[in-house]
Amino acid sequence: MRELLFSSYGIRLIAGLLVLAFLASLPAGLAGANGKRYRNRSQVNGQGRNGGWVAPVSNQAYRAQCGACHFVYQPGLLPARSWDRIIAGRKDHFGQEISLEPGQAESVRTYLRANAADTAGSRVSRRVMNSLAGQTPLRVTQVPFILHQHMGRKLPPGVFKRKSVGSLANCAACHPTADRGIYDAAYVRIPE
Ligand code: HEC
Ligand code: HEC
Repeated sequence: MRELLFSSYGIRLIAGLLVLAFLASLPAGLAGANGKRYRNRSQVNGQGRNGGWVAPVSNQAYRAQCGACHFVYQPGLLPARSWDRIIAGRKDHFGQEISLEPGQAESVRTYLRANAADTAGSRVSRRVMNSLAGQTPLRVTQVPFILHQHMGRKLPPGVFKRKSVGSLANCAACHPTADRGIYDAAYVRIPE
């Protein structure tokens, strides 16, 4: 063992192992000042790559059918009962009609229900559920937890009147990582 350790082969072996250990310790794709926070969250929530925020949209039918007019809100942002009502009310969806064949509507509904906030288990989903107190909002922007996150001093007055933002429903305007389900305040960029 001693001979192996001090031979040049042994030193290269040890150096190689150290490099591997270092690479393995980097959080997936997210380094920098917030790396630590991300790692902790992903350990706590076991949510893998986006560090325990909400799971990104993984269903093509949902993305195609519901993303035509607006951001595809992750299913983990609303409870299953809200998604049910949104799909059931698709003929009058905030004054518009969502045209879906019954089979398409059913498969989108199944996906949304299976990944809804009730069962998603991420920190954001849990906080969504805890804030609801039995309500069934049709909007993510009516979830008390989401509302409260956006009432603080961090948002300049009149920001929702900016053309680049429009409304609170336009998550991706200020959260460039929204499509990945990551809403960390550290990544927020408020457009002019
Ligand atoms: C034809 C365009 C259109 C399609 C297709 C569409 N929506 Fe919408 N959606 C709207 C409009 C308009 C609003 C309301 C926008 C507003 O007033 O802020 C809205 C709002 C929403 C909101 C609330 C956003 C908020 O304020 O928090 C959710 C959730 C939503 N839609 C889900 C869906 C789902 C699920 C589908 C697919 C089954 C879908 N939408 C398809 C037009 C559409
Ligand atoms: C006008 C810009 C803007 C829009 C639009 C916006 N957000 Fe935010 N969001 C922020 C800012 C700024 C913060 C950080 C607030 C703070 O640190 O006090 C934040 C914080 C959050 C948080 C809490 C993050 C944390 O660190 O715990 C969540 C979750 C969130 N937003 C989700 C959403 C969702 C979902 C939408 C769309 C329905 C949305 N946001 C739309 C600016 C925005």
